Amino acid sequence: MVAPVTDHDAIQLFSPLAPMMLSKSPITQLVTLHCSFLVGFSLSVSTDPIRALYAGYHDRYADYKTCLEEAFRELNLDVSLTDDLDSHPSQVKYIIYNPKGPLQDFSPYTNVKAVFNLQAGADAVANNPTLPPSVPLTRMVDPGLREGMVEYVVGHVLRHHLSMDQMWEQKRAGVWQPRGMPLARQKKIGILGLGELGSSCANALMRLNFQLLGWSRSAKKMDGILCYDGPTGLITVLQESDILVLLLPNTEETHHILNRENLVQCKKGAYIINVGRGNSIQEDDLLEAVIEGTISGATLDVFHREPLPDNHPFWKHPQILVTPHIAAKSRPSTASQVVAQNIRRAESGRPLLYLVDREAGY
Ligand code: NDP
Ligand code: OXD
Repeated sequence: MVAPVTDHDAIQLFSPLAPMMLSKSPITQLVTLHCSFLVGFSLSVSTDPIRALYAGYHDRYADYKTCLEEAFRELNLDVSLTDDLDSHPSQVKYIIYNPKGPLQDFSPYTNVKAVFNLQAGADAVANNPTLPPSVPLTRMVDPGLREGMVEYVVGHVLRHHLSMDQMWEQKRAGVWQPRGMPLARQKKIGILGLGELGSSCANALMRLNFQLLGWSRSAKKMDGILCYDGPTGLITVLQESDILVLLLPNTEETHHILNRENLVQCKKGAYIINVGRGNSIQEDDLLEAVIEGTISGATLDVFHREPLPDNHPFWKHPQILVTPHIAAKSRPSTASQVVAQNIRRAESGRPLLYLVDREAGY
């Protein structure tokens, strides 16, 4: 006979099991306990699984479901996953989230214990007024995303460094014009934002012999990288760098950090790669700087408005490459492991990884 009873009943019913039940981590929400008693019956105890809502891109749910369920299994987490926003919202404990997904109003999720943003940048959710400041919010720090970002940044730095765009032009024009090729050691790369992604890109570029400068909010020491902070530190990085890579979050402080006033401080002919957030650059000022030649060109993956409007002058400008916010994406297989780890931490009362500081905005 299988009799469903509560944890408490079971402990009282079969006191030798009490220490085990009481010490059991709260991660395990579903306890099915089959005890064969000498008297010949078995006892089953069950509690509800942890409810998690996937509120990311709809077309990625199938991949995420497979990977998340595998990650939950690996960590012995009994999680019931749904992508149905209306299924018992008050029972949802964790939300796996993308701000461009279907969920904008958090208010029905009255018992949510944490929101796990699948994007590295948390600006679009950190400012959502329906998400109470008391609900912990994490951002994605995903090895797969990091690898993608390093490849994008290194690829475009080398594209500019080796003048690959001009080689295409010469080839199209049928021009045979040998030229001296530069070495990485002759070039200075300034990285604005030395966080998870900025520091990984800086290290990869350093291994190719580029000279590295970096800028962050707090003062840092990093092997082989000249680190700066504060307004005067920014000016130094702008004045020295041949190529500037922006990997800054979108906050009040970083808004239009590259505006006319700062762009004129840049080394003449510097090249800009923006893979952080579009709001860091005053777009009209950048266009003007490129037209004037202060800035030789730019590779831009992020914009004030996305998708970039059809009539935006960046589309037509020959020295500006536009890519559609694809520099790096969270990968379901690796990102799911991060989400599972954080659910395990939350369930055992440990601090979450990669918490967003809602006040600082990143
Ligand atoms: P982190 O939070 O790890 O790093 C952010 C860095 O920016 C930190 O070094 C931080 O300084 C610095 N920073 C923040 N505010 C300021 C400021 N006012 N002045 C100077 N430095 C500042 O973020 P990640 O490295 O993980 O990601 C960076 C950004 O990249 C994300 O916020 C997102 O917007 C963007 N991104 C874009 C993608 C794309 O496909 N284009 C993909 C993934 C991310 P400190 O170290 O002192 O805190
Ligand atoms: C982002 C991301 O923050 O795609 O842009 O992770």
